[in-house]
Amino acid sequence: MRNLAAGKFAAVVLGLSLSAAALAADAESGKKIFVQCSVCHATDGRNGTGPGLGGLLGRKAGTAPGFRYSRAMKASEIIWNETTLDAYMAAPQKVVPGNVMPFSGVPDAAARKDLISYLATLK
Ligand code: HEC
Repeated sequence: MRNLAAGKFAAVVLGLSLSAAALAADAESGKKIFVQCSVCHATDGRNGTGPGLGGLLGRKAGTAPGFRYSRAMKASEIIWNETTLDAYMAAPQKVVPGNVMPFSGVPDAAARKDLISYLATLK
């Protein structure tokens, strides 16, 4: 009985470390996808052609200090999380009609997942 419990515990720990490793791998490949964003977006609070993306997850759309957003983005009422980012990155103009990001999106779902794992690491 005790051994069984210990075995279960080991399996849980193993499962957890595997998923942490998987997440790190996702973020690593997401970093490569981010290269196409980095022409416009910094990974910290600095604004360029696009707003800085540091601390993006949990932030309300259109609120990076000092960035001049479109009215569409400011009025979108979106909170950036895995779900909203996945939708926006799939079809930016469909999700925020009239936003001025000159980028057509990331069509591949797996690539978007990796990209969002990477965005989640930006503090
Ligand atoms: C050619 C420049 C350009 C590229 C490339 C680009 N963006 Fe943007 N992005 C912008 C601009 C400009 C805005 C502001 C849009 C607005 O105000 O309507 C924006 C807005 C955003 C927002 C909303 C941020 C906020 O503070 O609400 C996110 C998220 C975002 N971009 C992510 C990305 C990601 C991820 C990529 C790469 C896959 C990318 N962008 C590629 C220019 C760009």
